[in-house]
Amino acid sequence: MGSPALVVLGASGDLTTRLLFPALFSLERRDRLDDLRVIGYARQDWTTDEYHQFLRERMRPHLRERDARELDRFVGRVAFHGGDVSVAALRDLHTVLDGPAVFYLALPPGVFADAAGQIAAAGLADETRGWRRLVIEKPFGTDLASAIALNQRLHASWREDQVFRIDHFLGKETVQNILVFRFANRFVEPVLRAAHVDEIQITVAETLGVEGRSHYYDGIGALRDMVQNHLMQMMTLATMEPPALWDPELIRDHKVEVLKAVRALDPFRDAVRGQYTAGLVEGAPVVGYREEPGVGPDSATETFAAVRLHLDTWRWEGVPVLLRSGKRLASKAHEVAFRFREPPTRLFRHTPLEHPDPNWLVFRMSPGEHIDLVVRTKQPGLGLEARDTTLRTTYARAHDMEAAAYEGLLLDVLRGDHTPFLRFDEVEWSWRVIDPVLRAWENGRPEDYVAGSDGPTAQHRFLGPGHAWRPIVAHPDP
Ligand code: BG6
Repeated sequence: MGSPALVVLGASGDLTTRLLFPALFSLERRDRLDDLRVIGYARQDWTTDEYHQFLRERMRPHLRERDARELDRFVGRVAFHGGDVSVAALRDLHTVLDGPAVFYLALPPGVFADAAGQIAAAGLADETRGWRRLVIEKPFGTDLASAIALNQRLHASWREDQVFRIDHFLGKETVQNILVFRFANRFVEPVLRAAHVDEIQITVAETLGVEGRSHYYDGIGALRDMVQNHLMQMMTLATMEPPALWDPELIRDHKVEVLKAVRALDPFRDAVRGQYTAGLVEGAPVVGYREEPGVGPDSATETFAAVRLHLDTWRWEGVPVLLRSGKRLASKAHEVAFRFREPPTRLFRHTPLEHPDPNWLVFRMSPGEHIDLVVRTKQPGLGLEARDTTLRTTYARAHDMEAAAYEGLLLDVLRGDHTPFLRFDEVEWSWRVIDPVLRAWENGRPEDYVAGSDGPTAQHRFLGPGHAWRPIVAHPDP
């Protein structure tokens, strides 16, 4: 059996040169690629030398000078194979594949099903010469019906255990840290439940706009782009039951259990949408969404989406789970925050008396990666008064987070570990949750919010008396 190969379909595309290859390059520098062969596959009529030239030009601007010298070693590992996604062209890959292989679809979502089918029809899913795997990027469908249809087409030629559906948030270390913190410490689990927690807030706030991706984003919007996948995944990790074993199927069973327990959403009471207008983001003027290149002046695509979920489980009964994500907000802030109930009696003076700042457990993914526990401790000095204190565990990394997420995910695909990948029922159940909102949002318009703000005001109506959204700030004071 030959050495394993990673075949990247869409080898001249943006995802490949901006994320995948930088992640592979970083693994190369850490000697983690062993004897992996990388095959770039694209329509161009290039020789391998020409592809190397293309890769160097695309990747160099993003590298430090020292890395640029090491790029040659990495590029030497990559071969180019020209062809389209027809069976006839793909069959040619048999000449270069003599062992296990991963087929990575770095292609537009509209061709996922065709490409997967053609790869199999060309005989490349056959495992006589070693395992064969298929990697699919998001978005997996655009609603429940299209996701089910896509999956049926995949399953016509691939087994579920050959398929790896990517949600790059699951490759982020601080997202994985939610599970480690919850399940590696005895004292955490008994506390994370309705008896002690009265709200969960999950925020993924971005300062970026659509960044030249309006052809993809317009008509898709924040609910499909972020909430259905990344935020719903963070929610399942934050609320799932502890698995008895570290077993990919068991972990995914528990995640699906949470999604199945989400009470049907009322799109009018439990969902809010917004769209940014011109404003100042981190001091720089930006145009409104409807003025972005490629976006129509009447576009009703939401650039902010928030939903309020209730999980009908013993653990989370009555605890609202709030999810929100938006573009062109005040700051980049990704976090999962548990808000704790007040103690039954107030023994120490703590201001303000009516609505004291609550205790929080915050998993902060970006910018900066840390876990904060906001607790009350004694105010130094005479008298017995409580004040808020933050206990922080930092988790420093110098890397670009998204590239780092892809590094781990690529290694997991090569190892055949499904833990950080989406099983089909996860995707399906998460579409089931938001499908009623998608349908309701076919009509009407999102509320305007000024770029650089915290988003539309309607988001505040989700909150109970005395509750507030955590502010969207880059570095909350410890
Ligand atoms: C992608 C979305 O999946 O995630 C983008 O399509 C979004 O719109 C991005 O900007 C956010 O990822 P990260 O890792 O940069 O926080």
